[in-house]
Amino acid sequence: MTRDELKAAAVAMLDRAYIPYSHFPVGAALECSDGTVFTGCNIENAGYSPTICAERTAVAKAVSEGHRDFVRIAIAGKSKDYCVPCGVCRQVLQEFAPDIEVICLNGAGEEKTFSLKELLPYGFDHTWLETT
Ligand code: THU
Repeated sequence: MTRDELKAAAVAMLDRAYIPYSHFPVGAALECSDGTVFTGCNIENAGYSPTICAERTAVAKAVSEGHRDFVRIAIAGKSKDYCVPCGVCRQVLQEFAPDIEVICLNGAGEEKTFSLKELLPYGFDHTWLETT
């Protein structure tokens, strides 16, 4: 899938967002090293905290289907500013793909690209658990 196709896949997921509370749709398209793409949207809940972001929906779909080697993720929103991943999603991406490229789109389809290391410097991973 080309970069533009990955971005379009994220944008297409905006229509699937379940957002009765925030009215803030987010779509994501997560690309694996073998080219497989998993998409996601945000899914809100009346309990608020059970809400899952678009990025984590895509990661959960991928991991549960046996894919963990992620290379790129496109994240689409409809707002003026670029839709960047929240802190929890940064941490979840870090678990599987500390070197992933993160393509953030605004409502006009313009992009700003980051490395996850820029978005989550000094991120927590399994190595921190090996201190004893
Ligand atoms: N949201 C995402 O889907 N991804 C992010 O990284 C930022 C926040 C969703 C969660 C919630 O449904 C709405 O955007 C407002 O926070």
